[in-house]
Amino acid sequence: MLKKNFVGVIAVLLILSLSVIAVAQEKVEITVASDTVGKSYELALEAAEMYEKDHPNVDVKILDTPRLANDRLNLYLQYFEAKSSKVDVYQIDVIWPGDLAEHFVDLYQYGADQIVDQHFPALVKNNTVDGRLIAMPFQLGSGLLYYRTDLLEKYNLEVPQTWDQLEKAAEIIMKGERADNNKDFWGFVFQGDNYEGLTCNALEWVYSNDGGTIISKDRKITINNPNTIKMIEKAAGWVGTIAPVGVTSMAEEDARNIWQSGNAAFMRNWPYAYSLSVGEDSAVKGKFGISPLPAGKGGSRAATAGGWHMGVSKYSKNPEIAADVAFFMASYEVQKLRAVKGSFNPTIKSLYEDEDVLAANPFFESLYDVFVTAIPRPSTATAPNYTEVSKYFSEAVHSVLTGKEDAQTAIRYLEYDLMDVTGFETGQPQKY
Ligand code: GLC
Repeated sequence: MLKKNFVGVIAVLLILSLSVIAVAQEKVEITVASDTVGKSYELALEAAEMYEKDHPNVDVKILDTPRLANDRLNLYLQYFEAKSSKVDVYQIDVIWPGDLAEHFVDLYQYGADQIVDQHFPALVKNNTVDGRLIAMPFQLGSGLLYYRTDLLEKYNLEVPQTWDQLEKAAEIIMKGERADNNKDFWGFVFQGDNYEGLTCNALEWVYSNDGGTIISKDRKITINNPNTIKMIEKAAGWVGTIAPVGVTSMAEEDARNIWQSGNAAFMRNWPYAYSLSVGEDSAVKGKFGISPLPAGKGGSRAATAGGWHMGVSKYSKNPEIAADVAFFMASYEVQKLRAVKGSFNPTIKSLYEDEDVLAANPFFESLYDVFVTAIPRPSTATAPNYTEVSKYFSEAVHSVLTGKEDAQTAIRYLEYDLMDVTGFETGQPQKY
């Protein structure tokens, strides 16, 4: 008798647990591979919760990915190679649509035409490969100069307009602050590690000194020219003088940490650093401004165009729902949240007229031109080989920054490598 009852109870429990599993299984899980720099990850979680609230049958998981763009790409490539359905939505760098197009669905097949016109047309063009929309514009960015207003005042200096002026100001402030008992103080921090961030920084140096865009829009290799060589040599002169020797292994967050603890006069970084620099725990709160990056010899300035976009994996088991999640992540509502809380620049033009967005980020208005005239890296011209092109470029620059090679030699070899990778001919540097 006892045994019979026991079997009955087990059977009931089994049926119950199976039906719980069945209900749970009705939920569709959508995984979004997200950025983790600044407040990106926490804001992605917040957006996921917002989506789930309106879609109780969808469980949006946020996968945190490595901070360095190159490491993130390597992770994505592993998933793609395995045709993995683990990740449905990928946050992809503005430079990747051309290289990665084959792994993404065409978002026009999922209704993107209804919403895509809200975004800056240049980004839509960037994300369109052979007529297919690879990713929905999500966030843009451009290189900016962060400067300490209190220290410029203390040393009676102006915001530097040229790289020469930046060098001088950095030197004066650093000397003064060190004499004032701050041994850890530096003049200038930037992204000098051998990765995509260095490509962005060095493109700004080179372009602002009339050295072109590495490879031109019409597919000529333009990097080997005297303006480039001079400027890279100049930047190498910053290492160990106004910038720490360790700058050659710094990425965005390393530079920001030094800056935010009050130990740098100037920093090159993206807009996201603003929301953290004005935070309660920031030593530079109320003591800094943001301006365009300095000009080179001929007076040109350059900000590299950065940014991230939302693509749906071809290997997703639920591409339709994944596309809906990607559209939500890139929507007005979420881009506004990210702008207000994380100073991530929207790709939706009308958000630059949104009062809350501008109140949180006054520089979105004052530096609007910098954002819309930023210089793209040559990813469209070199697709599907941009990643390799960029690797050779950052490697060459890094070898000069670390004193392994002189600029002339490094750039000459770089030219050969780029010819090998792309098959393009050489040409004169051009304005974008
Ligand atoms: C930022 C930019 C991205 C760039 C990366 C380099 O995340 O938005 O476009 O490739 O920095 O570190």
